[in-house]
Amino acid sequence: MPSITVEPCTFALFGALGDLALRKLFPALYQLDGAGLLHDDTRILALAREAGTEQQHLAHIEKELRSYVGKDLDETIAQRFLARLTYVHVDFKNADDYVALAEKVGHEQRLIAYFATPAAVYGAICENLAKAGLAENTRVVLEKPIGSDLESSRKVNDAVAQFFPENRTYRIDHYLGKETVQNLIALRFANSLFETQWNQNYISHVEITVAEQVGIEGRWGYFDKAGQLRDMIQNHLLQLLCLIAMDPPADLSADSIRDEKVKVLKALAPISPEGLTTQVVRGQYIAGYSAGKPVPGYLEEENSNTQSDTETFVALRADIRNWRWAGVPFYLRTGKRMPQKLSQIVIHFKEPSHYIFAPEQRLQISNKLIIRLQPDEGISLRVMTKEQGLDKGMQLRSGPLQLNFSDTYRSARIPDAYERLLLEVMRGNQNLFVRKDEIEAAWKWCDQLIAGWKKSGDAPKPYAAGSWGPMSSIALITRDGRSWYGDI
Ligand code: BG6
Repeated sequence: MPSITVEPCTFALFGALGDLALRKLFPALYQLDGAGLLHDDTRILALAREAGTEQQHLAHIEKELRSYVGKDLDETIAQRFLARLTYVHVDFKNADDYVALAEKVGHEQRLIAYFATPAAVYGAICENLAKAGLAENTRVVLEKPIGSDLESSRKVNDAVAQFFPENRTYRIDHYLGKETVQNLIALRFANSLFETQWNQNYISHVEITVAEQVGIEGRWGYFDKAGQLRDMIQNHLLQLLCLIAMDPPADLSADSIRDEKVKVLKALAPISPEGLTTQVVRGQYIAGYSAGKPVPGYLEEENSNTQSDTETFVALRADIRNWRWAGVPFYLRTGKRMPQKLSQIVIHFKEPSHYIFAPEQRLQISNKLIIRLQPDEGISLRVMTKEQGLDKGMQLRSGPLQLNFSDTYRSARIPDAYERLLLEVMRGNQNLFVRKDEIEAAWKWCDQLIAGWKKSGDAPKPYAAGSWGPMSSIALITRDGRSWYGDI
């Protein structure tokens, strides 16, 4: 039996036939059901505006659920889960359709409205929910991207805020639901070993890499308007940076944590026009190889516009202007069509203050804390030890102290980020959701980069699919006398 209790709710999923709902949200709800974390009375309303019968749509949802959950699907759980589902046809902008929805919802339990739709309709959905008497006590969940810059994100947030207060608004950044990201908080604040060293006196620099092996995967239309900065840096990478860089919160409450994250975002140094060429690299993949197979370039993908100068790769050096991090660069790097899927954070510690070993070994000397978000979730601390053997003298070597989550906690399956996020919405815990001022501070910082790129008119640098990005992204870090950890 699970050790937490979850209250019953009506979970209304707007955009229920879309890719996110089918690929992530229904499977996550199914897993919660299997783990005993959906209350018996919880019901799920699948809302979409596509033509077709309820039966057809439910059959499609079931088929996709079976395919995404795969061979581990448990028939008893699947039947219990599918029995919770009702399909409701709703044109999101049509107030009349919400009358029928209100009849299905009933008022005996809390409504959770999840918007897996473009942000442009969030305002209309909120207004129509309110008109239909469905806003009181309701929690709304907003998927990213919320806007494409500070101004447009404010518009979306303001439109939602007219009907739903901040404490019932849950903004998703699915990276915050990942197991290892959660562990950053435990690692930092439950281990005095690290927290005492977590500053510019002991840390020389930090790397955050979020590399994807896949390309655009049929999402050219969306992606081309966004680009890698808006799609990944503005949210996932800056959130990771915040969790690494923030001061210890007073407690684990959502606002204590979010207050500290906002301070980090506000302390990010703006990037000057000169910095745009030395501190930031934009790239776009050209044809190359992925997992040994030839793949097309970004401009040759399906539905592409051959003139696009949208970036599929960004590397940059961010500096945080505060006492803790003065002089400690944070190198961020993310791209599509990289050699492998890899998300990791590497904390590089400084050399010992007085050096007594052979001079030729000096370069090797530094501890590194490697936090692997995916795949092979785990934490490894590289420490210096002596090479074994009578003939080795005081030769040093770097070796890992390793914690691999799936080996160490063998019985536990690592849940998908959405499972945790959906559970936390049902429990009313906003810890893992992004507050309005966080999103805005992140946009403000990204907007200056986008404006700088626009002004310079420089095209992104090409890199071959299957490589670690343009050569200049290597120069970005080697210029500071460092290199990306583990690149081969
Ligand atoms: C999404 C982006 O937010 O994150 C996608 O829109 C990206 O472009 C995805 O592929 C990566 O998520 P994950 O969990 O696979 O690292």
